[in-house]
Amino acid sequence: MKFFIDTANVDEIIEANDMGIISGVTTNPSLIAREGRDYMEVLKEISEIVDGPISGEVKATTTDCRGMVEEGEAIAAIHQNMVVKIPMTDEGLKAIKILEREGIRTNCTLIFSSNQALLAAAAGASYVSLFLGRIDDINMHGIDLVRELSEIFSVGGVKTEIIAASIRNTIHVTDCALAGADIATVPYKILMQMVSPPLTDAGIVKFQEDYRAVFGDK
Ligand code: E4P
Repeated sequence: MKFFIDTANVDEIIEANDMGIISGVTTNPSLIAREGRDYMEVLKEISEIVDGPISGEVKATTTDCRGMVEEGEAIAAIHQNMVVKIPMTDEGLKAIKILEREGIRTNCTLIFSSNQALLAAAAGASYVSLFLGRIDDINMHGIDLVRELSEIFSVGGVKTEIIAASIRNTIHVTDCALAGADIATVPYKILMQMVSPPLTDAGIVKFQEDYRAVFGDK
């Protein structure tokens, strides 16, 4: 399973990229709005940091196929690594079909069922984003969707890649890897919890104390 980072914060992206752990980035309108910066400028800056797929979503307020295609073309023009994120709607599916036929990769977002993912794949989407945490939020098991869709795509030989999104904790990450997700897109805070669980931090402190007790600061 590959890792993408799920953020529009360039400092977090630089840190994760420097650690060599991420293969791409996903953003969404909420994440970019949180940065309080120009929408397209943020995407451009991210594309200059990470050499891998960068998902930039059409603006949340654009809901018709034509508008999404126009915005998608503008996002794709930023950099060859840009992937256009399109919401799972009827108009979104039309936009995915057109953009993919133009050679522009798409990531169909806001997917909550295997049927939605199958439709997105049929329309030609390169990626589908399954919102694991938001399914958990309504008292259902988000991971079941990742497992089910992995099996469906595997049995049917579907090439569309599965992105496990809306990851809320480190257990989600392990579960997604076990369930067969191609990619987990993970917030920076959770990536750092994966790097340094408390036992590793405590182990480092103990080694330092034991070392200093005998060797001092040499
Ligand atoms: C992924 O593509 C989405 O942008 C993101 O993972 C949504 O996460 P949330 O449900 O924590 O907002």
